[in-house]
Amino acid sequence: MESDDKGLVCVTGGTGYVASWLIMRLLQQGYTVRTTLRPHSGQRDLSFLTSLPGATEKLHLFHADLNEPDSFRAAIEGCTGVFHVAHPVGNINAIPEDELAKMTVEGTLGILKVCAESKTVKRVVYTSSAATVVYSEERREVVDENTWSDIDFYRSLKTGAEAYVATKTKTEKAAWDFAEKHGLDLVTVIPTLVVGPFICHNLPVSVGLGLALVLGNETHYKHLEGTSMVHVDDVASAHIHVSLKDIKGFSKSICSSKKLVDSGFKFKYSLDDVFDGAIQSCKEKGFIS
Ligand SMILES: NC(=O)c1ccc[n+]([C@@H]2O[C@H](COP(=O)([O-])OP(=O)(O)OC[C@H]3O[C@@H](n4cnc5c(N)ncnc54)[C@H](OP(=O)(O)O)[C@@H]3O)[C@@H](O)[C@H]2O)c1
Repeated sequence: MESDDKGLVCVTGGTGYVASWLIMRLLQQGYTVRTTLRPHSGQRDLSFLTSLPGATEKLHLFHADLNEPDSFRAAIEGCTGVFHVAHPVGNINAIPEDELAKMTVEGTLGILKVCAESKTVKRVVYTSSAATVVYSEERREVVDENTWSDIDFYRSLKTGAEAYVATKTKTEKAAWDFAEKHGLDLVTVIPTLVVGPFICHNLPVSVGLGLALVLGNETHYKHLEGTSMVHVDDVASAHIHVSLKDIKGFSKSICSSKKLVDSGFKFKYSLDDVFDGAIQSCKEKGFIS
């Protein structure tokens, strides 16, 4: 453990690939974690969560389902940060897309509503997906949170993942609308295909996809073309990084240099120069190699 008592946070969908890895890292870093599981999870072997180091004292399991938007309340109230990771990923074509979208949008809005009402939640980190930003008829060299996938264009590709792309995009748009309307501090992390080790018992969908060539799953080969991948540990670290940014610590005042600048002084060096110079001297004097 790095340090004790970093605070209380909630991770939705703790049985999942990304969420379980995130929970492991949060516990290692000294957070107390509440995680939500669907009620049917009670019959499952959850030892990959309950046997994590620190879990006995610092991991608390709650039942909640996106089908019941208010069911996340008990897990969220009192937390400072919420990581909303849960979203149906595997076997989603068994449910009509409209039904699925209603569930993910209303479930997510229910979570955000509880966060906004809680008085304790300072930031919500939402696990987005590259699927919400990369698909467009027009070739875009670089995409980020300012670009959206064109769902109609994606449907024309007939990949079979239309429901996932559509529900992720609709859910995130609804989340941004809510956050803006209610002044909620929302940050999204947009992972590409997440691959790497896993602690959950099942083979995660994305790991199966990422290893399609190794596993000989030919139906998945077409999905790999041009697909970027990211290590699950980097995804977890990014979630923790953005949850801490700006919300912890003493907020310092800006030290005014107006008088100096108004009197004709010109600053010559940027922050990059500050670090470059310091690192160069440290190297020259043997403090770092
Ligand atoms: N893995 C990737 O490559 C990747 C890339 C980009 C973004 N993401 C995003 O990362 C998040 C996690 O994905 P993952 O790969 O970890 O998938 P996963 O292993 O399938 O995890 C999905 C989680 O969502 C939960 N869930 C599904 N339906 C639910 C419902 N109705 N109510 C409450 N919880 C529900 C699942 O619970 P059950 O175990 O009960 O089904 C599971 O815990 C998702 O938001 C996904 O869109 C993943």
